[in-house]
Amino acid sequence: MAKLKWGMIGGGEGSQIGPAHRLGSGLDGLFEFTAGALDHRPDAGRAYGQQLGLAADRAYGDWQEMLAGEKNRDDRIDLVTVATPNSTHFEITKRFLESGFHVLCEKPLTITVEEAEEIVTIAKNANRICAVNYGYSGYSLVRHMRAMVARGDLGKIRLVKAEFAHGHHADAADADNPRVRWRYDPAQAGVSAQFADCGIHALHMASFVLNQEVTRLSADTVSCIESRELEDDAMVNFRLDGGAVGRLWTSSIAIGRQHGLTLQVFGEKGGLRWAQEQPNQLYWMPLGERLQTIERGEAGLSPEADRSSRVTIGHAEGMPLAFANIYSDLSEAIHARKDNRPMDPAANLYPRAEDGLRSMAAIAAVAKSGKADGAWVDARPPMFR
Ligand code: NAI
Repeated sequence: MAKLKWGMIGGGEGSQIGPAHRLGSGLDGLFEFTAGALDHRPDAGRAYGQQLGLAADRAYGDWQEMLAGEKNRDDRIDLVTVATPNSTHFEITKRFLESGFHVLCEKPLTITVEEAEEIVTIAKNANRICAVNYGYSGYSLVRHMRAMVARGDLGKIRLVKAEFAHGHHADAADADNPRVRWRYDPAQAGVSAQFADCGIHALHMASFVLNQEVTRLSADTVSCIESRELEDDAMVNFRLDGGAVGRLWTSSIAIGRQHGLTLQVFGEKGGLRWAQEQPNQLYWMPLGERLQTIERGEAGLSPEADRSSRVTIGHAEGMPLAFANIYSDLSEAIHARKDNRPMDPAANLYPRAEDGLRSMAAIAAVAKSGKADGAWVDARPPMFR
C-alpha cells in the first residue's frame, strides 16, 4: 500500500497531544508526515515543522496558509489532524472538509451541538471521513471488551460504570493560574469543564464497548473549588438505547488519582473490569467461576484485539499505540475508499463525527441537568431524535 500523506494543525513544540499524534501516525509506516501548521506563533510553527523534517514550503505559518498551499497540489495531504485548542476545532475542521480533505479532529469536536451537527452534515455531503480522536478506544483490550459484549459472553448488559477522575486541578492555591483557570471559565471553555474535558472520554468508551447510544441522563455537577464557575466534579447517571444502565464519575480534584480512566461492565453472565493505567490486563469474571486475567497479546482473543495488539505479550503497550490503532483504521478507511472496496471490519472502529456530536449533546445535557438539580434530560442530538 502506498504511504498516505498526513498533516497536522496544532500539536507544536511542548504541546500535550502533538507527540502522541506524531508517534501514532508514524508507527506503522502508513502515513508520512508531510505538512503542518503546528503553532499559534507562525515563526515557531514553521521552525518546529522543519526541525521535524517537513519541507520548508510545507511547514506553514497558520492553517489558512496550509489550506491554500495544500488545496491545489497534486500530491496534497490525504488526512489532516486538528490538534489545536477546542474553540478552533469547528472552523478548521469545516474548512478542510469543505476543501475535500479527510479530517481527524481532537475532542471535543466543537463547542456547541449546533456546530457539531453542521460538521456531521458537511462531512456527509462532501463524502469525506471526519473522525474524532477518542483515542482510548484504540486500546487492544478495549476492543476486545467490545467484541466480548457483541458475541454475548456477558449476556444482556445490565450496568456499565465509567470513571475518569484525576487530581491535577485540586490545589485551591493554584486555581487562579492562567493555565488552569481558563478551563473553568464559560467564556473560554463553554458550558462544561471537567465533563467536557474528561467525562466524554469515559462516556464514549461506555457507549463504544456496549455498542449502545446514550439516550438520557441526570447529572450532579459541583465546583468543589468555590471560585470556579464550571464544574470540577460530576456524577452522571445515564441510560442507553439497548437497555443498559450507566453510571459515570469524573473529577479533577481527586487527589492521588493520576489519569483515572476505568470501565466496568456487568451483564447477566459475567463482569469485566479494565483500567487505562494498566491497559494490558482485562479482568473477566464469568458468573459462578473464578476471576480470570486476560492478557493483551495472548492467543485466542478476538480479531479486533489481535489487529490492535502490536508488542509481544508481557511488554508494556500504551497510549501512543492506542492512537496508532486509530490511524491504522483511518489508513484502511482511506485506502478502501480509494480502491472502491469494503473496509476490513476489524478496522472499522475509528470514532466518527457522529460520536463527537453525541458527546456535544451529552455535554449540553449534563450542563442543563446540573443546573436543574439533577433532572433527567434528553441526551440525544436533535438530529438523531
Ligand atoms: P496545548 O495547549 O498543550 O497545545 C496546543 C498546541 O496548538 C500548541 O502547540 C499551540 O501553539 C497550537 N495552536 C494553538 N492555536 C493554534 C492555531 N490556531 N493554529 C495552529 N496551532 C495552534 O493543548 P493540548 O493539551 O495538546 O490540547 C490540544 C487539543 O487536544 C485539545 O482540543 C484537547 O482537548 C485535545 N486533547 C486530547 C486528548 C486525548 O486523549 N484525545 C488528550 C489531551 C488533549
